[in-house]
Order: sequence, then C-alpha cells, then structure tokens
Amino acid sequence: MEFRRKDLLGIADLEPEEIQVILDTAASFKEISTRPIKKVPTLRGKTVVTMFYEPSTRTRMSFEIAAKRLSADTLNLTVSASSAVKGETLADTAHNLEAMAPDVLIIRHAASGAPHYLAQRLKCGVINAGDGLHEHPTQALLDLLTVKEAKGTLSGLKVAIIGDIAHSRVARSDIHAFTKMGSQVTVAGPATMLPPYLETLGATVTTSLLEAVRGADVIMMLRLQLERMGQMFLSTLREYSQFFGLAPKHLQLAKDDVIIMHPGPLNRGVEISPEVADGPHSLILEQVTNGVAVRMAVLYFLIGGEKG
Ligand code: CP
Repeated sequence: MEFRRKDLLGIADLEPEEIQVILDTAASFKEISTRPIKKVPTLRGKTVVTMFYEPSTRTRMSFEIAAKRLSADTLNLTVSASSAVKGETLADTAHNLEAMAPDVLIIRHAASGAPHYLAQRLKCGVINAGDGLHEHPTQALLDLLTVKEAKGTLSGLKVAIIGDIAHSRVARSDIHAFTKMGSQVTVAGPATMLPPYLETLGATVTTSLLEAVRGADVIMMLRLQLERMGQMFLSTLREYSQFFGLAPKHLQLAKDDVIIMHPGPLNRGVEISPEVADGPHSLILEQVTNGVAVRMAVLYFLIGGEKG
C-alpha cells in the first residue's frame, strides 16, 4: 500500500496500513543518516517551507534535516520577524508563501485546526507539526517506529502514557497511533489533567501512576505544559512530581525490558528524574534520531516520486 494524500494533518484520519507503510519507509531511510555523505537526490527541485508559530527544537530541526537529506530546498519563516507581527493573517501569509511555489508547508500553530484550515485553502501539501491541543502526527509516528524497533512489534504491548494529558497533542496522537496498531494504551495523570473523552479514543484511564506502569512494556512521560495552564490544574510542582514524576523505583513495577520515552523537552526532576531520563531503559534520544527518518518518509510520500 502507498500513502497517497496531499496533506498529513493527524493520526486520527489514517488507516493502520498507511501508518505501516510510513514506518517501513522510515526504517529504510534511517541508513542514509549513517552514511559519510548523508544525502540522496530523491526530492531534488522540491521546496519545503516551515512556519513555526510556536517554539520548537526537535520538530523544526528534524524536518529541515530530513528535507536536506533528500536534497529538497528548505526555507524557514521566522514568524517573529515576519509580517505576521504587522497583523497579516495566517491565511494571507500562507497564500503569499504559496505564490512562491513551495511543494509543502509545514506548520506549527497554537490554534487547533490551523493546519486543516490551510490544507482546505492551499494547493500545496500541508503537514501538521503540532496544532494547539489537537495533534502532533509526526511525533506519534516516530514514537511508533522507536517502539517497533525496540520490541519487534506494536501488537499486544502495554503502553502507559503519563502526565499532563489535557494539554498534550502528543498524547492524543499517540493514543490514536498505538491503539490503531494494536497496543493497549493506559493514560494516567491528575484528575484535572484527564479530559473526559479519553475512553472514547480507546484508552484506559487512571489517576494512579503505579497502576499505569504495572506490567508496562512502554512508559511515555509527558512534559508538564506550564505555559498552557492556569493555577487550577496543579497545586505545586513538588506535589505533582511526588505523584506523577517517574523515578527509578517505579521501573520495578514494569516489565524487565520496559522502555522509557518522552517527546521532549524534558522538565528534569518534575515529570521524570534524571536517573530515569539518562538511564539504560531510556530511548529518548533514539526518538529524536527516528524523527529525522519518519519526517523523511512523510516528505517522500507527500511530495516525492511521480506524485510530486
Ligand atoms: N517533541 C517536540 O515536538 O519537540 P519540539 O517542541 O522541540 O519540536
């Protein structure tokens, strides 16, 4: 099966077979990043534009590296130095960029649905690099690839996703992604950070970290998104860390070969202890490595080959 879409907007829309073909292609692209000359001509002549209205290190850099490894030309809109600060609307900015003939726009925006809004209006492809509290599809794809490589399968795994679920687009995309691929997902967090729709997405819900990690194959810790929340979500950081921070003692409850993941950036000592983040079970940097390969695969399917 091929992945034949103009845009990548979310995991909720995808069939498991589409996810699988992206993972398989990403796995084959990983080798390119190990070569002395890390470049292939696959996307020569294509133009990739990134528009990040929110901060990013991993996603923005890995999209740019992915595009360059495939020989595409890349341009970054520096939003703080763009005409957005003069009041230009998102749609006007995107239409003006499209007038310069890019093949794909990659957008991160605080408004849920911003990539969908652009995808309906633009002829070029649109990739969602994180929209508000909604989805972060390429993060979920790189998480799937990381787990598949470590465990050999996604089917039947017990995946615990822990922390600030309410503010996490990663959590939403990961719940869709892991359940579609046959894993059992348990989410845990303070009651104030557990939105009511989680069970409708196929996840088991608990307010106990201990319950979530018991027997887990995968523990995914989430960043506490202090910038998105008011005081009503949290009493103190210390109390949050006491009940929802992952420490070495918790790993004894999980499977012996449990893997620890985190999308980054880390709040060290809040949701995850340094000993766990840097310990032998951690695949946090492998996630980052796989982010390049997954984004190469997504760019390849959206703008490469005969469809481009
Ligand atoms: N995981 C992730 O989206 O990281 P950045 O915010 O640094 O892109």
